[in-house]
Amino acid sequence: MDGVRIAAPGDFGRTCLDALLAAVEGIARPVVGLPTGNTPVALYEALDAAVRNGRADVSSWRPFAIDEYGGPRSHPCSNRAFFARYWDAIPGAQPVEQFDPEASDTTADCRRMDESVVRAGGLEVALLGIGMNGHLAFNEPGSAPTSQTRRVDLHQSSIVSGAHCWGEASPHWGVTLGLDRLLAARTVIVMANGEAKAAIVAAALRGPLTPDCPASFARDAARPVWVLDEAAASLLGG
Ligand code: PGA
Repeated sequence: MDGVRIAAPGDFGRTCLDALLAAVEGIARPVVGLPTGNTPVALYEALDAAVRNGRADVSSWRPFAIDEYGGPRSHPCSNRAFFARYWDAIPGAQPVEQFDPEASDTTADCRRMDESVVRAGGLEVALLGIGMNGHLAFNEPGSAPTSQTRRVDLHQSSIVSGAHCWGEASPHWGVTLGLDRLLAARTVIVMANGEAKAAIVAAALRGPLTPDCPASFARDAARPVWVLDEAAASLLGG
């Protein structure tokens, strides 16, 4: 199917990287929305290796966090900590512009992030994982394609997923770029791996366009690219 790339076994990170490098090719200072979580780890490792061997250069990229947990900035399970580990380690990587979940005025902080993306000219690439419940960044089920950058209450499944790292302190809220900003990206790359994601990937790609599965709206983006491993693609049919 158009826009869907199935990675060969063991090749998920490199396939995601190929999609990302193709999306930024020829763009002088690409504005890139960056995800966290388990899904993109292989991509960041592949990108790090590509920079170190001269195949890629991220030094001109303008990176933005797509979301953050409503927890302490310094917590090792924060997205900030993830970027410190997987993004900042890449030679030449510029600091990620991030939400501040400890801001006294969360709404104002969301506005700051949103305006910063707009000032940068909008995202060239929105790089996204798909949540078990179909969320994109923290645009949880119920999010319309016009939903804006904002504070959100996390759904139970996101809290449970967060608990794998945060334990009992798993935050009940978060902040996220809105679907309006993410879906307006020149290229929207949605990544999914593993059998556990197969049903939600099938719902997003084959089901109705619906706020019940925010990832379904990625199909309507200007240039959607889905990077899946064989397990995540296993319920798509032919
Ligand atoms: P995961 O999270 O990569 O850790 O599964 C994806 C997401 O919830 O966005």
